[in-house]
Amino acid sequence: MCGIIGYVGTQQATPILMEGLSVLEYRGYDSAGICVQNGRLTTIRAEGKLVELEKKVKRFESQGTCGIAHTRWATHGVPQERNAHPHRDCTGGIAIVHNGIIENYQELRLELVASGHLFASDTDSEVLAHLIEDRVKQGIPLLQAVEQTLERVRGTYGLVVISKDVPQTLIVARMGSPLVIGVGEGEYYIASDPSALITYTKDVVYLDDGEIAAVTSEGVQLSGGVSMLAQDRLLKIDWDVEETSKGGHPHFMLKEILEQPQVIADSLRGRVDLIEGRSILGGLEGIRDRLAQIDRIIIVGCGSAYYAGLVGEYLIEEIAGIPVEVELASEFRYRKPLISKRTAVLAISQSGETADTLEAIYEAKRKQAITLGLVNVVGSSIARETDAGVYNHAGPEVGVASTKAFVSQLTVLTLIAVYFAQLREEEINGHAILAGLAELPAQVQEILDGRQEILKATAIMRNADHCLYLGRKFQAPIAYEGALKMKEVSYIHAEGYTSGEMKHGPIALISKAFPSVVLCPNDSMFEKTWSNIEELKARGGAIIAITTDRARVEDSVDACIVIPQTLEVLQPILSVIPLQLLAYEMALAKNLDPDKPRNLAKSVTVE
Ligand code: M6R
Repeated sequence: MCGIIGYVGTQQATPILMEGLSVLEYRGYDSAGICVQNGRLTTIRAEGKLVELEKKVKRFESQGTCGIAHTRWATHGVPQERNAHPHRDCTGGIAIVHNGIIENYQELRLELVASGHLFASDTDSEVLAHLIEDRVKQGIPLLQAVEQTLERVRGTYGLVVISKDVPQTLIVARMGSPLVIGVGEGEYYIASDPSALITYTKDVVYLDDGEIAAVTSEGVQLSGGVSMLAQDRLLKIDWDVEETSKGGHPHFMLKEILEQPQVIADSLRGRVDLIEGRSILGGLEGIRDRLAQIDRIIIVGCGSAYYAGLVGEYLIEEIAGIPVEVELASEFRYRKPLISKRTAVLAISQSGETADTLEAIYEAKRKQAITLGLVNVVGSSIARETDAGVYNHAGPEVGVASTKAFVSQLTVLTLIAVYFAQLREEEINGHAILAGLAELPAQVQEILDGRQEILKATAIMRNADHCLYLGRKFQAPIAYEGALKMKEVSYIHAEGYTSGEMKHGPIALISKAFPSVVLCPNDSMFEKTWSNIEELKARGGAIIAITTDRARVEDSVDACIVIPQTLEVLQPILSVIPLQLLAYEMALAKNLDPDKPRNLAKSVTVE
């Protein structure tokens, strides 16, 4: 989704802005642009990939030590150069980059056109430049002009404004769309995502919703004149730039799949007491007494995070005995959810910036629920808006298709389930669960070492346009997640279904040309799932089985991928790995770039 980078300081801005844009590429975009201040504003924009912008930047003079840049993912207006950011006012003296959506842009635009403003794009964002222009013309200083403009706006924004008349100054504002300021020596970086600035600094401060500030090489002043750089607001980013590069792998997706043994170990680090059989979650301790009183948990999330929540439902109900419901965050607040003070609403989000999940948390707060976050990005909006939470510690996930974040979500959800069981003094075998968790990194490594096995399955999928993923109980959400991965990166139409539902409809689809991936580890559901395999075979459908028991399965299926056996509650963490690899291999087999799936964005910051 759209990305912002800005710079003010003593260095040439253009190389820093272009580098920042290239880091933001992974978020998904269709056009890009930069604007540099040098007595006037030089704005250069291009449709398509960054290389198109680079070609143009080389041709133009874009010297200057203050500038803004943007990658756009079209929402209002087709992906063309005229809709790319930065957008300018009528004079070309003010330029803006904007993430988010201005909901009342149509009425504002009509009003501005009526008063003589000329629009150059179809976007919602451009109204901001013209509204600021009106106020600046009245002699209002830029910071206040932005402030007054935003009073007229309904919607969300991460906004950076630059003016030819206010040298070495960027005005930044945030409402529902993240902005982070990187603090250097007499220089400041602005970004919508910290990965774009960690090459330069790890000291950052996040803007809060409603804040507007002027960033100069002297410092960051909030609109009330207060400095934003108070010690308690400064955070240190705890990951390195190497972690956001491919590290010799052809794709981020593969790199992140291969990192998973380490990711699980990192998610568990310091959180497991193997002697006492307890999980230690410092992030929840502050509200321990309130959590001990809860009678219900609602998990909210989108996409893979929602599927992780479905596994969490089985885990928490089975281990801690607390009723759990899982809701798509994008539907949650439209449903009048019944929430009491004894309900905990747990938001799961890799980015911590997904607009729908954030809105679900606001709804939960309005209803006075206890809000919890299971978030990967430290300091992100969901992490800051929730009462308490647990970080994944998966490191930055760049691949658009979530892999290591999903696996770390399942790992942490298991710890959360054990933690809640402890709070309620449930009789559980915490030792066995935690010992099982501790063995997972080696077991995941075993699957990764044998990843050639996946090629057998790829051969079956090659000619398929459609396929089914089936699983029961703990494996049902893994079937959904496997199908999502396949759709996202290979564009094969994949349906995830619970095995038990197959005969209530989808079985009609099965034919020789319609393969199924069946999750059948040797667990309490094996016999039942076996009946589904028989039903598929009877209809001539090819079967790819993911199992822990080669001897029982191999002869009856077309491809058998064997994974190590663990406790039933932990098995999803192992069974999802071959599905990630299968999706990745299919993307390669179809000559697609798995890191840049069409139409998709890494972080969905619009509703
Ligand atoms: O950052 P989040 O975890 O909140 O993102 C939620 C979904 O957008 C995300 O999981 C999406 O479905 C991924 N592309 C899945 O691979």
